[in-house]
Amino acid sequence: MSAGDRKMACVTGGNGYIASALIKMLLEKGYAVKTTVRNPDDMAKNSHLKDLQALGPLEILRADLDEEGSFDEAVAGCDFAFLIAAPVNLHSKNPEKELIEPAVRGTLSVMRSCVKARTVKRVILTSSAAAVSSRQLQGDGHVLDEESWSDVEHLTANKTGPWGYPVSKVLLEKEACMFAQEHGISLVTVCPVLTVGAAPARKIHTSVPASLSLLSGEIEAPTDRKMQQEPSQLLTFSFCHTTCMVSGDEAAFGVLKGIETSTGCVPMAHVDDLCRAEMFVAEEEAASGRYICCSINAAIVELARFLADKYPQYSVKTSLLSGELLEKPRVCLSSAKLVREGFEYKYKTLDDIYDDVVEYGKALGILPN
Ligand SMILES: NC(=O)c1ccc[n+]([C@@H]2O[C@H](COP(=O)([O-])OP(=O)(O)OC[C@H]3O[C@@H](n4cnc5c(N)ncnc54)[C@H](OP(=O)(O)O)[C@@H]3O)[C@@H](O)[C@H]2O)c1
Repeated sequence: MSAGDRKMACVTGGNGYIASALIKMLLEKGYAVKTTVRNPDDMAKNSHLKDLQALGPLEILRADLDEEGSFDEAVAGCDFAFLIAAPVNLHSKNPEKELIEPAVRGTLSVMRSCVKARTVKRVILTSSAAAVSSRQLQGDGHVLDEESWSDVEHLTANKTGPWGYPVSKVLLEKEACMFAQEHGISLVTVCPVLTVGAAPARKIHTSVPASLSLLSGEIEAPTDRKMQQEPSQLLTFSFCHTTCMVSGDEAAFGVLKGIETSTGCVPMAHVDDLCRAEMFVAEEEAASGRYICCSINAAIVELARFLADKYPQYSVKTSLLSGELLEKPRVCLSSAKLVREGFEYKYKTLDDIYDDVVEYGKALGILPN
């Protein structure tokens, strides 16, 4: 393909999990890509981007959401801008200052750069299902679609759990929407659920460890490491008849449990489907508004049963399954809008999704080979 025939896309936060998968897909589809990272010299975070340069034209630029004008160069000349970078520190001590304000300010800053560029035909904003489903619902059988918004008033009044994250996503969506209307920008928002599956990024990310947190993590923990653990942090599990002690998965499981508690289910999608959905809503001229990207709604107990059956070589940590857990989802997140408009999911079952996640988990060292 000649340089003139290529469409150009900007993907913000290229060192991140989802962005790395989207960059790969865009390059494979013949796009030229400009991506941004905060520190281009940090090879521990960016080495996969160097590898992706073998697939097509990929420029890596420095930009920070906290610096106005920082994204001007990255979006200049681009047809599409995929806004994926965002503060994601769920456990921030000061969510207003560290999560909510920078998320809103940073989103608007990139959008101002898009206005200046004059070439950007569409901005694709990655929000989250957290902006849809963090709300109080009585009873069972709820189906939430794009009309549903997380309850900012309730979240900010109660400030429980990682409340700042859903609030940041609702507010950045609403501010971005207003800005787009005022400046005549075509804006489409994608609300991903818990996103899992293999991506070029080599750093370990919240959603992948969370999805694997029910499975045992190591074959044999070295003795000195066992000795360093506090007894309360230890979990006993067996793998290939070997009894081992590990810690760390409680935090990853806490993410899964937090999602089930706040949402009423664990909604999941494969990262490949999410990236295809991002490209679909960018390229489909008629696309507009919000799109939930979700292929499966499960309960943790259902996940545990599935994993125990499918992967007998890893023991499912039944010790984590105490306390209040749902037998089946109370709430489903609906992706009907995306499907109605012509999108087709490739990964529709837990079987489809987990084969790939388990392989990625092994590559990342979360699971034993
Ligand atoms: N993974 C999921 O299951 C999931 C589900 C729903 C929505 N999402 C959304 O999808 C997006 C990507 O998530 P992810 O899972 O791929 O997370 P990730 O791997 O942690 O990526 C987050 C990216 O944002 C960048 N970033 C954070 N603060 C920044 C700042 N001030 N300036 C510039 N860049 C900044 C990070 O850069 P540094 O590495 O330099 O910090 C990183 O590249 C996020 O908006 C997240 O809310 C993810």
